[in-house]
Amino acid sequence: MLDFTFYNPTKILFGKGQIAGIAQEIPQDQRILITYGGGSIKRNGVYDQVMAALAGRTVFEFAGIEPNPTYETLMEAVRIARERNIDFLLAVGGGSVIDGTKFIAAAVPFPGEPWDILARHAPIQKALPLGSVLTLPATGSEMNSGSVVTRRATQDKLAFMHPLVQPRFSVLDPSTTFTLPPRQIGNGVVDAYTHIMEQYLTYPVNSPIQDRFAEGLLLTLIEEGPKALATPEDYDVRANIMWCATLALNGLIGAGVPGDWATHMIGHEITVLHGLDHAQTLAIVLPSVLAVKRDKKRAKLLQYAARVWGLTDGGEEERIDAAIAKTRDFFERMGVRTYLRDYGIGSDAVPTLVAQLERHKLTRLGEHGDIDLATSRTILERCVAA
Ligand code: NZQ
Ligand code: ZN
Repeated sequence: MLDFTFYNPTKILFGKGQIAGIAQEIPQDQRILITYGGGSIKRNGVYDQVMAALAGRTVFEFAGIEPNPTYETLMEAVRIARERNIDFLLAVGGGSVIDGTKFIAAAVPFPGEPWDILARHAPIQKALPLGSVLTLPATGSEMNSGSVVTRRATQDKLAFMHPLVQPRFSVLDPSTTFTLPPRQIGNGVVDAYTHIMEQYLTYPVNSPIQDRFAEGLLLTLIEEGPKALATPEDYDVRANIMWCATLALNGLIGAGVPGDWATHMIGHEITVLHGLDHAQTLAIVLPSVLAVKRDKKRAKLLQYAARVWGLTDGGEEERIDAAIAKTRDFFERMGVRTYLRDYGIGSDAVPTLVAQLERHKLTRLGEHGDIDLATSRTILERCVAA
């Protein structure tokens, strides 16, 4: 096992009715800015629950944080938060709202140009405290310190991580996810699945606990994911998916093991250039990464084939091919298409995507740092069509 430091201070309030508990988590005298997206929380009653919980407190609102949150929109929230002397941010929504709020938290007290936090890894000395009410299980943002922000003007989708933007608390009430459209149910399961694969499907470091945590989460998503599409109002299904997605990227399963993350880095370029949902890009790229890196990932691919898909017969190549095919098939069953062509994108898009990777210095990806631009090109070419 590799050395690691693990510290996760986010308090989780899990279950029905837990939104009522947020008032106790935010100090009485604080001026609160609630941040949210395009209005789903107004339609499903989550907004009303939050407002009821915060009755009598000083509350301001910022709406309109879009999927793949943009610097342009978030800087408007930064302006309002500074103007209103906000003390505490409460993100209510999916990963985009939480990620965007993390950026706002760091940007409000930042002395320079906040884009440098993303573009130049400028050091952060202070951030506003934040909490979240999660409505879309997918990213793990509710219990980690990462944030991904897009700048429309320059076509950059960049990430930063900092302990100061880790949520102080997050409410996970599975019943808030009943209103998710099928597309977002599928996206959430595919995103969580890929987070697990990025941390599991690398090479063995004698870490049986992390492996079995990862396999347990993968098996749970495979069992529960399709049920969420078939019976959307099943509370237990939603509860299992929600906790799975949080555990997939809260640092636990990644502690002491190598990480890949090539699928995510390549996927971000597809989103920024072509507008695909985050999880759609992962469903396209992950099977190709596994196929192209099959030699260096061989031991874990065979373990994955056996323990997750029960594939124990046949030669090694056959089992690996079958495991990759099962993965693709699972994404398709979750309603997420797995080729660029399915989204109207052809092989002519590949050179520009590779140029974006180069511009962002993403030239040594993967757990061995051996996915150079030529390998990324090969991966992307395999992504186009069957
Ligand atoms: O904006 P509203 O109206 O709220 O609608 C949203 C949005 O249109 C809707 N939605 C959310 N909860 C709902 C709901 N609709 C009905 N009922 C509900 N309960 O879903 C749509 C998508 O929301 P979004 O927040 O964009 O989705 P997701 O949670 O998948 O977040 C994606 C973003 O997270 C980043 C991605 O890059 C992308 O920008 N990621 C963040 C990570 C992190 N911080 O650790 C890791 C991930 O790998 C990922 O990169
Ligand atoms: Zn992701």
